[in-house]
Amino acid sequence: MKTPFQSAPSGALAGALLSAALLSGSCASVKPNQLGATAPTQVEVRDFGRTSDGRTAHAYVLRNSAGVEAVLTDFGATLVALRVPDRNGVLADVVLGFDDVAGYEGKDNQYFGCTAGRVANRIAGGKFSLDGRVHQLATNNAPNHLHGGDKGFGQKLWTTELARDEARVHFSYASPSGEEGYPGLVLASVVYSLTEGNELVLEYSAVTDAATPVNLTHHSYFNLAGAGSPTVLDHVLQVNATRTTPTDETLIPTGELASVAGTPLDFRAPTRVGDRVAELDATAAIGYDHNYAVRDAALVSDLATVLGSGPVAVLSDPASGRVLELYSDQPGLQFYCGNFLFAQRGKGGAMYPHRSGCCLETQGFPNAVNQPSFPNTVLRPGETYRQLTVHRFLVD
Ligand code: GAL
Repeated sequence: MKTPFQSAPSGALAGALLSAALLSGSCASVKPNQLGATAPTQVEVRDFGRTSDGRTAHAYVLRNSAGVEAVLTDFGATLVALRVPDRNGVLADVVLGFDDVAGYEGKDNQYFGCTAGRVANRIAGGKFSLDGRVHQLATNNAPNHLHGGDKGFGQKLWTTELARDEARVHFSYASPSGEEGYPGLVLASVVYSLTEGNELVLEYSAVTDAATPVNLTHHSYFNLAGAGSPTVLDHVLQVNATRTTPTDETLIPTGELASVAGTPLDFRAPTRVGDRVAELDATAAIGYDHNYAVRDAALVSDLATVLGSGPVAVLSDPASGRVLELYSDQPGLQFYCGNFLFAQRGKGGAMYPHRSGCCLETQGFPNAVNQPSFPNTVLRPGETYRQLTVHRFLVD
């Protein structure tokens, strides 16, 4: 399939040049025309503790005038907290997470809120061949590679730039050639912006000096009743996709596309998450953990295109009235409903039991690097990987 990547000016090679290209605004900045304007505010910076190797992590607080608050950390370019109103205006933090960086480095962290990469989701056997060379990655989710390996992008300390007087944070990370077995130096960036329209906008970009797969995603676990509420099974989900990518027993897609019709994966009409989940208990996914084929290829990462194509998914909590509309340019959406959560302790001592959060991960298809019929995820020198994902919060 045709590459979704847009060409960057030629001659952009490794090192400072690439870095400059990324940081000097090759990232398509969101204009406030169809979204609420980016909230005019000073970003508050807080200490977020020390990493195990002695570096200081920070938390960055974005606020808008409705009182909505997004807290991010440079560790993993992670969304730590997101406070949005219910139908009575009462704010609740709707994402699972930890109080400090030690929590995010700890064994109880299951990619909470992070930027997963260099390749999010699974690569079969941790192996792929590119331009005649075989690359072996960590098989950290045996027998496969998951979310970038032993220490993927979600476990790295990113470099931060703050926008002046705007609710926006720019994180960048230089992933050296050979890191986790991947070829090529990759310079990745993600920009989080909070708008006056209660939208959290994520703009990703990446460039490389050698061909490599790149597939980034945002891994927040949402619970619209408030993180720590016991379940998301009463949430209602709509996914605007007619097909999924069926998998083998290790969650690697077989390469087929299957219709959702007549299966518990059919969310074309808004449906309670818990209604049919038990039918999946005895499957390899042990619940919802499926990639929806939203479209055949990524869209151009342009705000009008992405918003104009309509929401990929809508998640709502009828009790509180909180609604999340998700827009994205990506071909895939992994809907994962917290099957592996095990009542670990998170922010403020809250407990996160089985299925008490669900992830809506906009991304390329799993194992695309080994599946030529899937939309391309290989980034080459001179191209720029882009992704635009918008989380819009409403009430009903
Ligand atoms: C999801 C993935 C799940 C599981 C989870 C982390 O993105 O689809 O299978 O690995 O991350 O626990």
